[in-house]
Amino acid sequence: MNRIFSGVQPTGNLHLGNYLGAIRNWVALQQEYHCIFCIVDLHALTLPQDPEQLRAQTREVTAAYIAAGIDPERCVIFNQSTVPAHAELAWLLGCLTPLGWLNRMTQFKEKAGKHREEAGLGLYGYPVLMAADILLYKATHVPVGEDQKQHLELARDLAGAFNRRYGTEFFPLPEPQILGTAARVMSLRDGTKKMSKSDTSDYSRINMTDDADTIALKIRKAKTDPQPLPATIAEAEARPEADNLLGIYAALAGLDREQTVALFAGRNFSEFKQQLADLAAEVLGRIGGEMRRLTADPGYIDAVLRRGAERANALAAPHLRQVFDIMGLLRP
Ligand code: AMP
Ligand code: TRP
Repeated sequence: MNRIFSGVQPTGNLHLGNYLGAIRNWVALQQEYHCIFCIVDLHALTLPQDPEQLRAQTREVTAAYIAAGIDPERCVIFNQSTVPAHAELAWLLGCLTPLGWLNRMTQFKEKAGKHREEAGLGLYGYPVLMAADILLYKATHVPVGEDQKQHLELARDLAGAFNRRYGTEFFPLPEPQILGTAARVMSLRDGTKKMSKSDTSDYSRINMTDDADTIALKIRKAKTDPQPLPATIAEAEARPEADNLLGIYAALAGLDREQTVALFAGRNFSEFKQQLADLAAEVLGRIGGEMRRLTADPGYIDAVLRRGAERANALAAPHLRQVFDIMGLLRP
């Protein structure tokens, strides 16, 4: 059976981009695939984190998965640091990673910014740990938002490099699955920047736990242009803010872009925004409420993660042992 692996960092402010670009797509996949969904806490440590908050956010992402409809019986849900093999395989793969590959990573350049010399080794090696996450389970498919495409190419390259170096076909080359009409949700304040957990303005994003009033306010304040809504896809594409809001509507309503453009062509933004706010509040209201209910019972969340860790370790351990053998590491 094909196997899916994906993950979200427990870095706070889970937003509509995380939901529409990633988590929501996973719900349907659990019927057809063997799914492993991780809370990648080791990745979160590549930037400074408050320990208490990191723990709370790890539980919050777990709650978001379950609230969105991921079944913890059917799927393996766990936090990365409970399976030591992730860090071990990352080291082994790191020894096969040319620096030239890492130097091309645009996310590192963005996150390190002007302070490249102060950026940590963890941030630089981030894509190698991500490759280890995927390859450790011999995952065949990886559903993510569009921004992770380059990292996934690196994971494929590393799988290929390992296989060639050791003359084996041990690792399958994982396929990216970039799904849906909202694989790249943009900031509400700037249609050319992606919606992000780390944006300093909370008005740039809709959080999964925002209430209906907050959602309506943020959408009302969202940047737009003075013209009425576009009549064609081509026109929409030339107007980033309009395009983004239409894309969000399409994804939430389960329509395609053509249908959505046709629905609102020539209407004014205030009317469209009202409908978008109602729709977003309806979808997120349900999930946010369920997240609050679940996080009120950390005992339940921790039990899900403990059980997930056992299952993930059982899947990972034999693969890591085989990698040790292939690479010539003695296990006396
Ligand atoms: P992160 O917030 O970086 O841990 O991302 C978790 C998942 O959400 C990944 O699959 C990302 O590709 C996806 N994602 C993050 N931001 C966006 C966005 N603005 N639009 C669509 N998907 C996103
Ligand atoms: N880098 C991903 C993100 O920030 C999260 C992630 C870590 C991931 N390991 C992964 C996603 C493995 C898919 C598969 O969005």
